[in-house]
Amino acid sequence: MILTMQPSVLVTRRIYPEAIEYLKQHAEVDYNPTDDILSPADLLARAKGKQAIVSQLVDKFTPGVIAQLGVRIIANVAVGFDNIDIPAATERGILVTNTPDVLTDTTADFAFALLMAAARRIVEAHEFVHAGKWERWTIDMLVGQDVHHRTLGIFGMGRIGQAMARRGKGFDMRVIYHDAQPANFDAEFASKEKVLRESDFISLHVPLTPETRHYIGEPELRMMKPTAILINTARGPVVDEAALARALKEGWIGGAGIDVFEREPAIDPDLLKCRTATLAPHIGSASVETRRGMSMIAVENAVAALEGRRPKTLLNPLAWEKVYARKEA
Ligand code: DGY
Repeated sequence: MILTMQPSVLVTRRIYPEAIEYLKQHAEVDYNPTDDILSPADLLARAKGKQAIVSQLVDKFTPGVIAQLGVRIIANVAVGFDNIDIPAATERGILVTNTPDVLTDTTADFAFALLMAAARRIVEAHEFVHAGKWERWTIDMLVGQDVHHRTLGIFGMGRIGQAMARRGKGFDMRVIYHDAQPANFDAEFASKEKVLRESDFISLHVPLTPETRHYIGEPELRMMKPTAILINTARGPVVDEAALARALKEGWIGGAGIDVFEREPAIDPDLLKCRTATLAPHIGSASVETRRGMSMIAVENAVAALEGRRPKTLLNPLAWEKVYARKEA
């Protein structure tokens, strides 16, 4: 009797149960069912002998870690992949996948919700009412800024940037944007400086790369209108957090809606003190449907790689060509 060994998969942290059930139908699963982050040493020890890893943004795949991996695929449960050194993975013939599309509208909904909350002071209003401070209606109690018919500036006109732009248009906003090149989208493509100077709201949708680290720093914040509101649901290090705290404290800009931070879960203490900052704990894609969908896409990608099929949301086709195309030839 020939016994075929089942492939083995490491799931580094808790994901939706349906995704684990699906994986179990196709592989042995070494599951960390907690939210604890595996240290690089634990990650490597548990990845030994595995053919796939289902990871999250808190798992850091540096070139040093990747050099010691023998897996076929790292399936990241996120659209962002700045936690994985893609060139190092490609070099080693390791496929890397993310979870795009499923979270596009969910993240744009949240970016727009932050924009609305910051503009109309919803969190302050909520705290005010809960604290029993509401005694009478007054003409200027908790007055904020209009959103409709104002200018929405977008940096990064990819899938989520465009979904944000559509929401802005739904509010009759003028939408301007900047990106490396113009997108196929009906909005004004403008220079970075024009977007900074003319926007009432600026929403960031660029990936984190060496070029976008501190894309918004002191010079940019000083170019913005004193009433402008900055929204960041992309990645924390895209904004110089200390400069943002100073900008809010000293009134260079009017407010911010921030979901992602430079050193999550730590937040600059000065930013925490700013009443004009509406802050959230990296929950842009956090709807039940979307987080479940992200979990499923990641495990489906892992199983595809285990079965020698090209994963749907492959980030490094070169790795596929290197390893799998050669096998097929
Ligand atoms: C993403 O998908 O990149 C979100 O930031 C959650 O990790």
